[in-house]
Amino acid sequence: MIITLLGYMGGGKSTIGKQLASVLKYSFIDLDVYIEEKEGKSVPEIFLEKGEIYFRKLEHVCLKEIISNYNNIVLSLGGGTPCYANNMGLLAQNNLQSFYLQLSPVNLANRLFEQKQGRPLIAHIKTKQELQDFIAVHLFERQEFYRKASVVLPVDKLSVQQVVACIIAKLY
Ligand code: S3P
Repeated sequence: MIITLLGYMGGGKSTIGKQLASVLKYSFIDLDVYIEEKEGKSVPEIFLEKGEIYFRKLEHVCLKEIISNYNNIVLSLGGGTPCYANNMGLLAQNNLQSFYLQLSPVNLANRLFEQKQGRPLIAHIKTKQELQDFIAVHLFERQEFYRKASVVLPVDKLSVQQVVACIIAKLY
């Protein structure tokens, strides 16, 4: 089985993914890290040097590669992955379950404000309020893709352990 975690930046996909993989004794793959290793550059460097369209194409190729070559993995997607190149269509396989980790713009802005430097799409935003406004609009645009996940999990009030337990409960 392949378990994919998706949702907006800062939603805890990697933290929860690592924990979930360790409980299930699955391998963990972070799509951004996979892309960085394949390209030999960080995500911000790829955006800066080659642009977002190049990144999106690479992201699509890497996603295809992972889901056709691996099994028994937890895979964390990038925040934008579900919204490009029919990537959600790629996830519609029998052996694959996808979980949208859904958080409010307020919580996302609080979490992301300190970590925006490594994230090219929000690095330029100055204040927390501006970040929250940006996220509200961006999330609204992205929701239709995120909602195609097999399970939508509101996680605002849950700890990492509780989210992991909820995901496991939906698997069996
Ligand atoms: C992006 C999210 C990032 C990374 C890139 C673009 C997005 O991943 O893929 O900066 O479009 O939301 P995280 O969600 O892991 O930060």
